[in-house]
Amino acid sequence: MEERISPARVLSGSIRLPGDKSVSHRYAMLAAIAEGVTSIRNYSTGADCGSTLSCIRALGVPVERDGGEVRIDGRGLDGLKDPAGILDAGNSGSTIRMLSGILAGQSFATRITGDESLARRPMDRVMKPLAEMGASIQAREGRFPPLEIRGGRLRPIDYKLPVPSAQVKSGVLLAGLFADGATIVRESVQTRDHTEVALREFGADVEVLGRTITVKGRPKLTGRELTVPSDLSSAAFFLVAALLVPGSKLVIEGVGLNPTRSALLDFLVSMGARIRILNISQAAGEPAGDILVESAPVRGGVIEKELTAALIDEIPVLCVLGAASENGLVVRDAAELRVKETDRIATVAENLRRAGVEAEVLPDGLNIPGRQNFRAASFDSFGDHRIAMAFAVAGLRAGGECTITRAEAASVSFPEFYDTLRKIAE
Ligand code: S3P
Repeated sequence: MEERISPARVLSGSIRLPGDKSVSHRYAMLAAIAEGVTSIRNYSTGADCGSTLSCIRALGVPVERDGGEVRIDGRGLDGLKDPAGILDAGNSGSTIRMLSGILAGQSFATRITGDESLARRPMDRVMKPLAEMGASIQAREGRFPPLEIRGGRLRPIDYKLPVPSAQVKSGVLLAGLFADGATIVRESVQTRDHTEVALREFGADVEVLGRTITVKGRPKLTGRELTVPSDLSSAAFFLVAALLVPGSKLVIEGVGLNPTRSALLDFLVSMGARIRILNISQAAGEPAGDILVESAPVRGGVIEKELTAALIDEIPVLCVLGAASENGLVVRDAAELRVKETDRIATVAENLRRAGVEAEVLPDGLNIPGRQNFRAASFDSFGDHRIAMAFAVAGLRAGGECTITRAEAASVSFPEFYDTLRKIAE
């Protein structure tokens, strides 16, 4: 599918976005192994979170869904069933890596795979700690999906994360639920903590001391009523769009503001963005609020060290902003971008080049000079949702109509993206 994006005169209005992808995955997985019913409102409409629901259904968990309303009839820690076939995580790294932790604790063997992009993403980062806990996991070429996971009774481990990855941290913590004793995960760089927050909400015993997380095995998890805040990483596209198109003013309602995710807002403000947060609330340990953003010239900046991990999903759209900023954007310490849904250093650079925007590709990042204009161009999502949406935003500031090929990739996290954009753009 191809989408046409016309340059926008102004963006205005008030929008509400689908539920947070990271939080939705975690609520669904914990609901599956909790006792009793969990009802979730504003569950992510993205295909990735749909993949998580299909996997837990295949594991014998009754799931009913009506748009963003999901009802999961939890089976308890020992109630999952041997699935009839191979589990399909689709495009979703979160599904395969986090669910592997739960599969490692089962008495049956499971196979799990995904689409072409997922089949190229490294799984050894989660296989290694799960093997230390006692699971036996086979993978294509030792590290790629499909995975074959033979679990059983697990041993608790004390694990220092070698890569900053919330998916891996979560996989180990979820496996820790099935271990006898306390499992410890140590992070050197803080990553999103939705798993720790959600585990507590479902009744697990979780202790967080600095960057050390301890979870006790064999808890009794109980089904709950939950509402997912809207996804800040999806809001990022609209925040950048409003900053880029002069005269714009937008309100994005009910957005998740978990402090381990909200570095984006501080970074944009440090660049000169005009952002205000209104109507702050808190549900199930996750803060949310309305974000008011107004167009403003932005200075530019550097994303490196811990900040890189904190902004990892927002970097593609920040690169678009960086090219239009006063002083440009430097991204470093971002080798992880090369193993996302696409090699995002390469796919960002290629799309910038198509619009006549200069960018220096570094082994672990990009150096994008500022004050550059986007020519009308044909962009390619390369099958990556965040690349499709980032370059749709570039199209709003381009010298003429742009096209996005393979634009349907956006539906992995945000099927309503183009409709929402049309609603606010004049
Ligand atoms: C996620 C963690 C991050 C992020 C991904 C979602 C999560 O991945 O890029 O979109 O929900 O835990 P890594 O764990 O690979 O850093």
